[in-house]
Amino acid sequence: MSDVLLSVRNLGKDFGGVRALSGVSFEVRAGDIHALIGPNGAGKTTLFNCATGVFPPSAGGVWLREHRLTGLPPHHIARLGVARTAQNLRPWRDMTVLENVLVGCHLRGRRGLLSGMFRFPGTCAEEKRLRDLALQRLEQVHLAEYADVRVGELPLGQQRMVELTRALAADPHLLMLDEPAAGLHTRETQELGRLLTSLREQGLTILLIEHDMSLVMSICDRVVVLDHGEMIAEGTPREVQSDRRVVAAYLGEQA
Ligand SMILES: Nc1ncnc2c1ncn2[C@@H]1O[C@H](COP(=O)(O)OP(=O)(O)O)[C@@H](O)[C@H]1O
Ligand SMILES: [Mg+2]
Repeated sequence: MSDVLLSVRNLGKDFGGVRALSGVSFEVRAGDIHALIGPNGAGKTTLFNCATGVFPPSAGGVWLREHRLTGLPPHHIARLGVARTAQNLRPWRDMTVLENVLVGCHLRGRRGLLSGMFRFPGTCAEEKRLRDLALQRLEQVHLAEYADVRVGELPLGQQRMVELTRALAADPHLLMLDEPAAGLHTRETQELGRLLTSLREQGLTILLIEHDMSLVMSICDRVVVLDHGEMIAEGTPREVQSDRRVVAAYLGEQA
């Protein structure tokens, strides 16, 4: 019995002459941590961009249950319950930690960011509710004491946690993380692993692009492997780890 949350069907993306994705199909089960791995240039970030409305695919599509995501604008996809982080750190550095997380809250807030900005009647209670929610989120990731610090002043590991918290603040069904452990120390990576595991226990589904294989192997339920835009393997971490095509793809990258 598996409950599918996200379906990627025959997804293709060309950039001029470059075929970044070709015929990629897989499903992410609700409640899983699902990894997307592969050498640099394999098409992982492109798959995220197609799924979150950054650009349209050249073929196929991505569905969140019965909703076709591909073709929708990013804010609409966010409202359906998909939150993501970017490979290159993008928290707004001049804003405080709390303000960053509030932006995430507003993505799902009942009255939306615009009414918050223009202070329509009835938004004060909503503002307070969102502030409390944001602070609660920051406590979960041990960042509450930095609520009023500008993000640009924090070390990289904490900046990444701010970005992750901002994504979580939108209260998504699906969290898509693009290399969240890049640049983190071993201890920070282990902490991230524990956080993601506890989020899964709370019912969140996570699609994770990650190069840190020990993190992937220790927390993921299933793994999809891309190479040159094609899916070359899919299975449990143990299955893909011993797959000859996967080993060859990674050895090829090192060579
Ligand atoms: N916006 C873009 N315009 C042109 N080419 C792109 C763009 N995004 C990605 N590519 C190309 O698509 C391929 C896959 O890139 P990417 O999805 O970033 O790989 P990965 O995230 O697996 O390292 C690469 O050849 C890359 O140069
Ligand atoms: Mg990438």
